[in-house]
Amino acid sequence: MSLLVVSELSKEYPVAAGGFRRRRLRAVDHVSFSLTGGATLGIVGESGSGKSTLARCALRLERSSSGSVLFDQRNLTELRGRALRRMRRWLQLVFQDPASSLNPRLRVDTTVAEPIRLHGLREGTTAIRARVEELFRSVGLGPEHIGRYPHQLSGGQQQRVAVARALACEPRLIALDEPTSALDVSVQAALLTLLRDLQSRLGLAYLFISHDLAVVSAMAQRVVVMYLGQVVEEGPTARLLAGPRHPYTRALVSAVPRDVPWAEPARSLLTGEPTSTLERGHGCLFAPRCPWVTIRCRTEPQTLRAVGTDHRAACWRSAEGELPSA
Ligand SMILES: Nc1ncnc2c1ncn2[C@@H]1O[C@H](COP(=O)(O)OP(=O)(O)OP(=O)(O)O)[C@@H](O)[C@H]1O
Ligand code: SF4
Ligand SMILES: [Mg+2]
Repeated sequence: MSLLVVSELSKEYPVAAGGFRRRRLRAVDHVSFSLTGGATLGIVGESGSGKSTLARCALRLERSSSGSVLFDQRNLTELRGRALRRMRRWLQLVFQDPASSLNPRLRVDTTVAEPIRLHGLREGTTAIRARVEELFRSVGLGPEHIGRYPHQLSGGQQQRVAVARALACEPRLIALDEPTSALDVSVQAALLTLLRDLQSRLGLAYLFISHDLAVVSAMAQRVVVMYLGQVVEEGPTARLLAGPRHPYTRALVSAVPRDVPWAEPARSLLTGEPTSTLERGHGCLFAPRCPWVTIRCRTEPQTLRAVGTDHRAACWRSAEGELPSA
């Protein structure tokens, strides 16, 4: 059953547009997806595509402009005050940069104990201490790490503390926003293994954000691909990697050299820059960069359409079988 159901979620920010004029930047544009308990949904896209904004709005750390979020069948977008604070415990966020989620002036055990006290999850110093030690063990840190300050730990160890702090809340869902991007390659693999182990032990659901499809494929059963705030393709990760249907997904996938008819034109896309969200035209947002663009693409807005079993893409040419097949 779905733990998280996001429907038509949008987030706009007012931005200066010269002089006294203000315009609205649509960072997330009518995004819908659902996530089953204990499963992982990957969110991929280039920098600025709206991944972090989507995660913050889905977890209700930020208010969305429109749309709804159901968590365990409760509408998060309608919750306020104490009801929202109580709910927060179930939904946690881990950032790319562990330094931003750890207070440099606090010992790391104090940082991990904080949410336990805040949500009243253990009573008394001894029980809290025991729980903190248990959490450190569960993320692969020993007693020698407990009394330290963040700067006395490596980047990988700091990220493990950030995961322990998230776990302290006993959440059901964790959004992992590029959790390994700031780490060395060798440390990345170990952290991904830890996250998978924790998921199977604790039945956690993950929203796993990355610009790297290879990392997402190692973690997520399903993936949504974002471009300028919109979802342009979604489906089971293996199917999407073996047969990407949207030209933008093809560009991401073809970064890994492959011998398929669409690989060469798609590869060239990665060299172009995305247009600004503010300068979007009427038709397909990807038209300025797409090697398969036609006049119809420039005038017709694209919405997700079925391109296979449980697989959708926002490209009429792909849906109507007009692109070279994967
Ligand atoms: N608080 C804000 N005010 C104004 N614009 C914002 C704000 N937060 C994000 N944006 C804009 O929204 C768009 C999406 O940003 P977001 O950080 O969600 O992208 P992202 O996919 O997470 O990028 P990255 O991979 O670099 O982390 C960008 O154009 C960004 O400049
Ligand atoms: S609708 Fe047209 S421009 Fe957009 S991705 Fe498809 S082929 Fe390219
Ligand atoms: Mg981001």
